[in-house]
Amino acid sequence: MGVSIHIDGARPGVTINKNIYGHFSEHLGRCIYGGIFVGKDSPIPNVNGMRTDVVEALKKLEVPVLRWPGGCFADEYHWQDGVGPQESRKRMVNTNWGGVVEDNSFGTHEFLELCRQLGCEPYINANVGSGSVREMAEWVEYLNSDGDSSVVKQRWANGQKDAWGVKYLGIGNESWGCGGNMRPEYYADEFRRFSTFCRDYGKNKLYRIACGPSDDDLRWTEVLMKQAGRHFDALTLHSYTIPSGKWKDKGEATVFDEERYYQTLERANRMEKLVTDHCAIIDRVERELAKREGEKVHRVDLIVDEWGCWHEVEKGTNPGFLYQQNTMRDAMVAALTLNIFNRHADRVVMANIAQMVNVLQSVILTEGDDMLLTPTYHVFDLYRRHMDASLLDCAVFADSLPGSVKQVSASASLRDGEITLTAANLHMTDAVDVDITVDGVDVKDVTARAISGDAHDMNTFEDKEKVVIRPLTAIRRTASGFTVTLPACSVAEIRVRG
Ligand code: AHR
Repeated sequence: MGVSIHIDGARPGVTINKNIYGHFSEHLGRCIYGGIFVGKDSPIPNVNGMRTDVVEALKKLEVPVLRWPGGCFADEYHWQDGVGPQESRKRMVNTNWGGVVEDNSFGTHEFLELCRQLGCEPYINANVGSGSVREMAEWVEYLNSDGDSSVVKQRWANGQKDAWGVKYLGIGNESWGCGGNMRPEYYADEFRRFSTFCRDYGKNKLYRIACGPSDDDLRWTEVLMKQAGRHFDALTLHSYTIPSGKWKDKGEATVFDEERYYQTLERANRMEKLVTDHCAIIDRVERELAKREGEKVHRVDLIVDEWGCWHEVEKGTNPGFLYQQNTMRDAMVAALTLNIFNRHADRVVMANIAQMVNVLQSVILTEGDDMLLTPTYHVFDLYRRHMDASLLDCAVFADSLPGSVKQVSASASLRDGEITLTAANLHMTDAVDVDITVDGVDVKDVTARAISGDAHDMNTFEDKEKVVIRPLTAIRRTASGFTVTLPACSVAEIRVRG
């Protein structure tokens, strides 16, 4: 069977929240230190300590939102240790990640300076596991208040006059695991207590984010919704793609056979069901609460603030640094997952790939003063036009690959009178002709660009441009639309103008 895609261009749907294209940066391995932040005195070109090469590359992606400081690190992080003169900042051992010294030279001011340089929204994940209510409340005050208080004066003394107005506040991370091994009943109460004292200051209204489930832990979602659902704006979902499905034997990032390749896609595709199942619970419990209390339904959003491939670390690297290479297989996972998020844009309001630089499925890898863009970076580039665009219904008719995943994954949106279709041919070895029809638009012009290659292709410091975006010219007009030939293992951005 051939592949065909039918786009309904006449009925624009919900807006795809640009925050779906968000990132995550933790104090883990070489993500922050070395990857993003090198300090003002570094010989590596930087602005206020942030690597110029990395910041410039990220600016091209128009990063909308950045989550920090963790991850598991968040529940060990004490924000007061990371403000004030560099020489007097506390040192600690990062017990979660590699047992290395954390000198706290990257703290609140540095993170917000990074967000300023990137032009993105900050998303701060605060400490419930080993922190106090007062500590969290004062961090929010330090970030957002203009009142006459000692905490605010401390911020002024540290060189920041204006409040930053941080909106996105995560209250605990993986509280069912590294964040305190809590039961959902207990975390629900902790969430209510901590969030009560996180105040809104001035015009800034906090968007309170609760720690949601891991993968298919539906019970966590149900209990949390029932016991604290009225107190948060969103809950999170963490789901990683471990190709083998086994934490103890994840498999290498660059060495895999055909069977493992398709198994990887199959595992990544679980995101569709996870999002659907958790949102169904959120909706049902909300309706029940509203009915019982005679109130309006309070909308709770879903944020997938950790996702991506998790492989074995590269040989010879610190196992606690989670440094892995990134191939076209990872690009396929990114393409498939972002299409799922787009199609669920009515419920998924943010997603944060783990992680931005040098950790897990990164968009950038660095080595000393050198830097490369991974295939996953290019997927984010190809999908950029979906940000804040209107979702279009996009039906894909295709056979399944070994397993249940369809050969072609796609999503479509409309922005400024132009349709963007992102389509990935997930077949490892076969190109495919895709017949595309668009309702409601008299198609005048179609252009496309894509990445493609062998599933094992990657960019290395010896060959940084093995995978780059190239124009895709195999486009033919047909009586009903047009046909695009997608090479094997490829991701394309197809722009359609009427
Ligand atoms: O992203 C790496 C780790 O994975 C995060 O610190 C944690 O939240 C998750 O388990």
